[in-house]
Amino acid sequence: MARLTKPHREAESEMSIPTAVPQKNPADAPHTGLEGVIAARTELSDVDGRAGVLTVRGYDIEELAGNAAFEEVAHLLWHGALPTATELRELQGRLSGYRRLPEETSVAIELAARRMPPMDALQFIVGSLIADDPDPEDESREANLMRAEKLVARVPVIVAGYHRLRSGQSVLEPREDCSLAANFLYQLLGKEQPAGEIRGLDTYLVTVADHGMNASTFAARVIASTASDMYSAVTGALGALKGRLHGGAPGPALQMIEEIGTPDRAEAWMRDAVASGRRLMGFGHRIYKVRDPRAEVLYQAAEALADETGEQQALALAREVERAGVQVLAESKPGRNLNTNVEFYTALLLREIGLPQDLFTPTFAIGRTAGWTAHVLEQQATGRLIRPQSEYIGPRGLRYIPVSQR
Ligand code: ACO
Repeated sequence: MARLTKPHREAESEMSIPTAVPQKNPADAPHTGLEGVIAARTELSDVDGRAGVLTVRGYDIEELAGNAAFEEVAHLLWHGALPTATELRELQGRLSGYRRLPEETSVAIELAARRMPPMDALQFIVGSLIADDPDPEDESREANLMRAEKLVARVPVIVAGYHRLRSGQSVLEPREDCSLAANFLYQLLGKEQPAGEIRGLDTYLVTVADHGMNASTFAARVIASTASDMYSAVTGALGALKGRLHGGAPGPALQMIEEIGTPDRAEAWMRDAVASGRRLMGFGHRIYKVRDPRAEVLYQAAEALADETGEQQALALAREVERAGVQVLAESKPGRNLNTNVEFYTALLLREIGLPQDLFTPTFAIGRTAGWTAHVLEQQATGRLIRPQSEYIGPRGLRYIPVSQR
């Protein structure tokens, strides 16, 4: 694993970022994607891509997903320990209270719902949340924790409000007597949802809450490292999450499964797609060289719901698409170890829960906001600017030629 070398800074804090000193060697080309580079020390989560283990603050993801509520995991990420019953009650109370949006944010939702796509809308609207910050200049941990709680509480309310307005429905007042997952589904779908769907969404949010130094988290930490604010860090992270190589894959993964249609068509479809140079959505990962552990957690959550939602057939189809995809990729990209990633079963689970396909990535953002804000808090504690170097490969010494002579 390439580790960025640490220059002469004896007194650098434990949490600070080693500065990049790229080697001028073409053999370094694989590092253009920073693979293998350790860009931060973190106590938040660890991805062991060879063993297929995701650790969140000391817990394997399988231990948390399905057991802990999303609010508990947000507390775990922010404070390093699961909350006591009193701490959880107090946190739930604050999060419920924050569901009421500032007027500026409600106006932003109305504007965005006219014709902005979901992730662009979310990024635009989240930027408005600074409007009711009591003191934007306050950089204390307490002030930033409050911002983290407000962001986690409000992102789902924003997604639900945006969806209601864009589909010609009225925005519902948030409820204060239920969990974040239950309120999101209520505000989005217009009525209280069955316990199974709420549990399924809670499991999903916990599963995606944090995941090492993924692209959007890195973006958030870079922004936080400049001493910019938490809202800016989260809007930057949203921009990174939107891309189909990161959080934008579950919609296309579902389209792929729907297009395949029946299990007997899976293998031929996959072969054709790979032969024509297409990427199979929901497969491959920069870090995991075995099956993403989150894929199994989400498959099980989808299976637990299947009796209620009648999606057994869809799950059986997905299993065959997964098998065929892994086999075709192993044959066509030998040695790459391309397996199913989190996005594959995300698509099925979120569809079962009743979410529209183009809200899959915004729903990912609801969960990941807990991780982003925890990383911002951790980055702020280091006080260290993230500023790598680049290797210049262009010409030098050119002379200016006036426009009239070009
Ligand atoms: N389908 C087909 N081929 C693939 C796939 C795929 N899903 N993933 C990787 N490959 C191939 C590449 O074409 C490349 O082949 P080559 O060496 O012959 O050119 C090789 O495997 C290595 O791929 P890289 O792009 O170097 O792998 P990288 O680590 O950069 O990519 C990524 C990881 C972006 C996730 C990639 O696997 C991908 O595009 N997957 C599909 C999109 C997806 O599912 N994204 C969600 C990721 S999970 C998340 O971010 C939450």
